[in-house]
Amino acid sequence: MSLANKLITLTGAASGIGLSTARLLARRGALLSLADSNASRLSTAHDELSSLHPSSPKSILSTVLDIRSTSAVNAWLSSTTSHFSRPIDGAANIAGFHPLWTPKPVQDVTDDEFEEVLQINTFGLFKCLRAQLQPSIFNPAGGAIVNVGSVSGLIGFAGDAAYVASKHAVHGLTKSVSKEAGSRGIRVNAVAPGQTNTPMVQAMAAGKGVLPTPAVSLGREGQPEEVAEVIAWLLSAESGYVTGSVYRVDGGMLD
Ligand SMILES: NC(=O)c1ccc[n+]([C@@H]2O[C@H](COP(=O)([O-])OP(=O)(O)OC[C@H]3O[C@@H](n4cnc5c(N)ncnc54)[C@H](O)[C@@H]3O)[C@@H](O)[C@H]2O)c1
Repeated sequence: MSLANKLITLTGAASGIGLSTARLLARRGALLSLADSNASRLSTAHDELSSLHPSSPKSILSTVLDIRSTSAVNAWLSSTTSHFSRPIDGAANIAGFHPLWTPKPVQDVTDDEFEEVLQINTFGLFKCLRAQLQPSIFNPAGGAIVNVGSVSGLIGFAGDAAYVASKHAVHGLTKSVSKEAGSRGIRVNAVAPGQTNTPMVQAMAAGKGVLPTPAVSLGREGQPEEVAEVIAWLLSAESGYVTGSVYRVDGGMLD
């Protein structure tokens, strides 16, 4: 795939779908600017990914980042273009959060609980998009952005209104921004994973936070590598006429 020497930023790169995507992009020769709020996991990921590019130690940049901070997000993108001495060619906005509280109806959800989910999944992703799309940051020749939404951005789940609302907003942002960025040759798409075997889902299962889901045609949960493959395709020139789309990677959950 046409990702060699492309400069791609990733949030949520220290775990799950983000880490699998970073591994795949590194194997395909991309230059990576990784960001995550979990410093220790990010350090481990950095060491592993750097070993894939032993001859070019500058090809992986890692930044501890909370995407809720406007100034930190802006500084991350500026330091990325400085480090690599070039604008970015793509972005995978993967960082996200699912609350560990037991599913509950909206009348029992507090302001703080609702806001925490929206602050990360929706506001944080918006802040990343806004910074990435500055003309000084994104390659004027164009490129691609992939946002990670969810099947929870396509249907409702009782007991999970905050997360569902936050992911519907991710899909809405994706569609609107694709219309703004298309004239610059920048494609903007989303992936909507179904239940995927990552630390997020493992933590929810441990805390009884996993919701009943519709039957999955393939009869199993997804693996993060399977979501990463679709993200990589959407970042590459092979998906050159695809924008404003939301690609389900859900094993047929909604069919
Ligand atoms: N696993 C699933 O079943 C599933 C399904 C649909 C959508 N998703 C979405 O996929 C994305 C990745 O999830 P995952 O399952 O790999 O989870 P994960 O918990 O393994 O990884 C999420 C990463 O995001 C980081 N992160 C969280 N808040 C952050 C913040 N404020 N700033 C920066 N980084 C932050 C975490 O530190 C973590 O490394 C999320 O957006 C999630 O909502 C996951």
